[in-house]
Amino acid sequence: MTHPRISKIVILTGAGISAESGVATFRDQDGIWAKYDYRDVATPDGFARDPQLVLDFYNMRRRKHGDVQPNAAHLALARLEAEHPANVVIVTQNVDALHEAAGSKALIHMHGEILKRKCGNCGLQEQWSNDITRQSVCPNCKQAGTLRPDVVWFGEMPYHMETIAEHLQSADLFLSIGTSGHVYPAAGFVAEAGLHGAKTVELNLEPSEGTSLFDETIHGYAGEIVPAYVARLLAEASDR
Ligand code: OAD
Repeated sequence: MTHPRISKIVILTGAGISAESGVATFRDQDGIWAKYDYRDVATPDGFARDPQLVLDFYNMRRRKHGDVQPNAAHLALARLEAEHPANVVIVTQNVDALHEAAGSKALIHMHGEILKRKCGNCGLQEQWSNDITRQSVCPNCKQAGTLRPDVVWFGEMPYHMETIAEHLQSADLFLSIGTSGHVYPAAGFVAEAGLHGAKTVELNLEPSEGTSLFDETIHGYAGEIVPAYVARLLAEASDR
């Protein structure tokens, strides 16, 4: 059996892909937004109101990050990039570093990275794996109290949107993995990719908000369904 040639695969990932690594999701029953109000810890207004609370929240998540490892789903996507003849690009909403730890190279962090900090005064962005405090001094502009985690908050523009749009417009296959489809612009990527002719596939524990927009849906644990789907894509590519 022959399969259509796939030249470009664009993969959107969300918190669900890291759940089996022990990273909390946001909107599941025991998720982060069940314990915190996002307006307090994930908005510029929240940071202006109570910077300590916001820094503590991300310091806690950064410390926990030291203990987590990529799971079978992250590893399968790295294998897909290494072994499939197509150009494979991951666009992740996750701020964790598990895709890169698994070996993925073409990776876009649209919501920033927990292991980076940025200066609200001069715009410096750099790798950072320790706590950030209100006394922290920016190594570039020497101001104190201006450093924050380099993560995108609600009300801020996600990173690399132009590059992502170009990828979506040239995709033959679009996969959405472990995301509830509640947060735009990422939730709109399936429509954008579909409009430009990509086949669209959802791989998630349960139907997402936009599940009816996908050509195919596969529901189950990412650690099981993603390796199986990647094996299928690799087998189809070698059949051609
Ligand atoms: P959500 O917490 O909204 O959704 C996670 C999805 O993963 C849900 O649909 C779950 O059913 C699914 N899921 C949970 N465990 C899974 C597993 N083991 N395997 C497969 N799927 C699983 O997380 P996101 O969609 O990533 O933004 O959230 C998007 C954005 O909202 C985040 O980047 C963050 C958040 O607020 C900001 O903080 C700006």
